[in-house]
Amino acid sequence: MILVTGATGTVGSAVCERLKAESEPVRAAVRSPEHYDGPATDVVRFDFTDPTTYRAAFKDVSAVFLVRPPAISRVQRDIIPALAGAVSAGVTHIVFLSVIGAERNPLIPHARIESWLSAVEISTTFLRASFFMQNLSTTHREEIANGTLSVPAGAGKTSVVDARDVAAAAAKSFVDGITGAFDLTGPTAVDYETVCELLSAELPHTVTYHNISIPRFIIRQARSQPILKAIVMTGIYTTARFGLADRVSSDLQHHFDQEPTPLSTFITDYQSAWS
Ligand SMILES: NC(=O)c1ccc[n+]([C@@H]2O[C@H](COP(=O)([O-])OP(=O)(O)OC[C@H]3O[C@@H](n4cnc5c(N)ncnc54)[C@H](OP(=O)(O)O)[C@@H]3O)[C@@H](O)[C@H]2O)c1
Repeated sequence: MILVTGATGTVGSAVCERLKAESEPVRAAVRSPEHYDGPATDVVRFDFTDPTTYRAAFKDVSAVFLVRPPAISRVQRDIIPALAGAVSAGVTHIVFLSVIGAERNPLIPHARIESWLSAVEISTTFLRASFFMQNLSTTHREEIANGTLSVPAGAGKTSVVDARDVAAAAAKSFVDGITGAFDLTGPTAVDYETVCELLSAELPHTVTYHNISIPRFIIRQARSQPILKAIVMTGIYTTARFGLADRVSSDLQHHFDQEPTPLSTFITDYQSAWS
């Protein structure tokens, strides 16, 4: 049995679909099983912050897809106890959704999780993903539907990756037993002017890029979401602004036999999101 955490989220839901298509037994670990209507064959209540949910979740499980929920930053308190529970329950392989550059930034939660996992005697797969294309259809959905995209990325490029490709790599890691650390990116790096041109070409309306200042971005984001998330998002776009998010990797093709999806294809597939 493969336990998928974050099973209602962007990547976890696609991992469940992929594993089901491969006829792998998959259990969705969710906070509200009564509302779960996804593809997993089995569902269990699981909350990182509630250790009483660990035992039933990890029962008869050999492998785990690990998603660190974005709202959880206290790794030692909220994630490590669950991982320790998984290991003592007999889990032998953990595939972790990490973030590109985690190995160079020991302070971010993903780096601390990688470090803990590397120190225990189990197989690990670290999928260090670039920025998801799906941020355009979720976080920025409304403003794009209204014809603008305002982020403080300057002319910087980002090697955006389709979360469906990340999910495909995760599923293959389980099925083929692939271990190691991999950088998952899209096929090219794009700047946000180009992102808007591609959106405008596909959608019935024009989408204009506004390269807003960092302080204005933080203030705008903080109106609609927690300040911590606004700061994290600012950090991500500032990284792009300074040319630090444009590295393209071939790991998807070489290790997972997965051609990275071009941004134009993602936009075509998701166009109903912005209608
Ligand atoms: N966005 C990007 O561009 C990007 C790029 C690289 C890496 N990442 C990393 O990817 C991860 C997020 O993945 P995602 O975008 O697929 O997730 P997501 O769509 O944001 O969904 C979060 C998931 O976490 C679950 N969750 C929230 N709190 C929980 C808790 N206390 N216990 C158990 N489950 C909980 C949610 O389930 P409920 O249904 O219960 O709410 C949901 O399934 C983050 O670690 C992020 O840093 C993101």
